[in-house]
Amino acid sequence: MFNLPKAGFGTTQFWYGTDREAFLTMLAAVREGGIRMIDTAEMYGDGRCEEAVGELIRTAGRDSLYIVDKILPEHANARDFFPSLDRSLSLLGTDCIDLYLLHWREDADLAEMSSLMEDAKAAGKIREWGVSNFDTHDMEDLMQVRYGDRCRVNQIFYNPLHRGIEYDLMPYMKEKNISLMSYSSLDTRTARRALLEKEEIVQILKEENVTLEALMLAFNLHHGVCPLFQTKSVSHLRDNLKGLDLDIGRHVQAIDRACPPPSSKVPMEKR
Ligand SMILES: NC(=O)c1ccc[n+]([C@@H]2O[C@H](COP(=O)([O-])OP(=O)(O)OC[C@H]3O[C@@H](n4cnc5c(N)ncnc54)[C@H](OP(=O)(O)O)[C@@H]3O)[C@@H](O)[C@H]2O)c1
Repeated sequence: MFNLPKAGFGTTQFWYGTDREAFLTMLAAVREGGIRMIDTAEMYGDGRCEEAVGELIRTAGRDSLYIVDKILPEHANARDFFPSLDRSLSLLGTDCIDLYLLHWREDADLAEMSSLMEDAKAAGKIREWGVSNFDTHDMEDLMQVRYGDRCRVNQIFYNPLHRGIEYDLMPYMKEKNISLMSYSSLDTRTARRALLEKEEIVQILKEENVTLEALMLAFNLHHGVCPLFQTKSVSHLRDNLKGLDLDIGRHVQAIDRACPPPSSKVPMEKR
């Protein structure tokens, strides 16, 4: 599998501009929490989230960070790809993105996109590339085009309440050696409240003395999925970091009872 940092920090909280508290928490994630991977996208606030990451790069130093950025499907063509990538590089204030993803498939031409990603690698503007929100049939199509097998990562929606990808996408990605990264790893507050009503989950939290959010991140890691999360709060950040070192091996059956894995194909869920 492609080697990614253990977990990453999301940036949609900067959609409307840089919020100081959120920025300082992101900085604490890097400096105190050892988080290197920062996830952003040209779509988020039309570049405002990339600008916040640019400020982080200036503050923490480019070498301490692993930057993930995403291009919109309507820009993944010969005319718009490089202007889009160059704008992102300029907002980030760096000359190279570590991992560049196609944000979702829509009607992007996969052969053209893969070839442009390889051109960007050759130009030293990105190190590796991948996709996001690709279901199994999308990955199969990608594997058919030239350079498609150079895709390194698929970023998808996954957490204990949304396990659909375990049925066919996860085994397919393993077979192809492509890594999974999850967004909305912590789902919504309402979804988390529903999880806290499950006896098995409450028991695990008591035994391990961790928060539900930490358990959710540990769940994704246990299933080989690299989780993204975001928070404005340093205290939530510290709770979440505990999840990155939590081994949930002995609780797997209890979690499966509370949140059963899929027994048939579930079409890709998105946020
Ligand atoms: N590829 C895609 O299509 C896609 C889609 C969505 C997101 N993403 C990426 O994935 C990143 C993360 O996903 P997400 O934005 O859905 O966020 P998330 O990390 O799943 O959830 C964030 C929410 O959880 C809360 N939270 C975090 N830690 C907590 C804790 N310990 N206790 C209580 N609440 C806690 C946060 O509130 P507080 O701030 O109050 O802690 C915030 O409301 C995004 O920022 C973005 O970079 C990608």
